Amino acid sequence: MQKKDLLSLADLSRREICELIDRAKILKQWKSQGIVHKPLEGKTLGLIFNKPSTRTRVTFEVGMYQLGGTSLFLSEKEIQLGRGETVADTAKVLSRYVDGVVMRTFKQSDLEEFAQEATCPLINGLTDSFHPCQILADIMTIEEAIGRIEGTKVAYVGDFNNVANSLILGALLMGYHITVACPKECEASDELKSKIEIVEKREESSGTYEVIDDPIEAVKDADIIYTDVWISMGQEKERDKKLKLFSPYQVNKELVSKSKEGVKIMHCLPAHRGEEITSDVLDSENSIVFDQAENRLHIQKAILEYLLSGSKWNFAIT
Ligand code: CP
Ligand code: NVA
Repeated sequence: MQKKDLLSLADLSRREICELIDRAKILKQWKSQGIVHKPLEGKTLGLIFNKPSTRTRVTFEVGMYQLGGTSLFLSEKEIQLGRGETVADTAKVLSRYVDGVVMRTFKQSDLEEFAQEATCPLINGLTDSFHPCQILADIMTIEEAIGRIEGTKVAYVGDFNNVANSLILGALLMGYHITVACPKECEASDELKSKIEIVEKREESSGTYEVIDDPIEAVKDADIIYTDVWISMGQEKERDKKLKLFSPYQVNKELVSKSKEGVKIMHCLPAHRGEEITSDVLDSENSIVFDQAENRLHIQKAILEYLLSGSKWNFAIT
């Protein structure tokens, strides 16, 4: 059977995303009822991380354990990849040992090269370009919070980064509308454009995206206001420049007051409180950020089951 990778949301169809989310909701319920479900007994997941992580690392490790498998955390500094062994050789070797790999790194092209050489599934745990696992958890969280995803209006305010890119692909696949509000200097990357083309060719989407520079216009009739850090991992040298550029894009009480009453607040975390978002908004009763963080666990268990069990999931409780 051919292996399947998750390098960006363009690797999934709308139907697959709906099935993953339905499955994640079942796994979430089973977990709360104490039902043990171990379809991945005997399987091992490798986690190659070249950037820090709290949520992604912990949810993949805990998720793999809960599904009956085990995981190996492989910080790039501690494996030979960090000393110049090629991505291709690493992929070929690890494929002989593990049943799947999660990779968090800088370049999307490294992920693509790894996937091409590996014989086991590869999951994107964040690159400079995309963060698909985060957005799958976010779609699940929106469904839980407002009861639907199609037709929902999302205002993303801030840096046009990996999270924004994946939110745009999510909109085209799942039929929500996203307005990205960012400075004029920010624009869609070629990588994003090529994935948009793939999705648009394949799916008949009712979802839309637009990029504007006015945050107030973006939030006007939004159901969701979403933001992310202004300085992503690897961009630390640009800190001063970015703080200045993005200061009109802070998600604070005043901006939220320009939106609908009850608008939900989302952030993939980690948050830099006082920069892209103020604490009163992050901790407000409309904030669903910690539900997003929790859902990373449930959706990634569904992803692991789907990609690593080698067949469609078995709905029987084992
Ligand atoms: N949201 C997210 O991916 O968090 P971590 O960087 O902690 O994994
Ligand atoms: N855009 C952020 C997301 C962190 C989960 C980064 O890449 O650092």
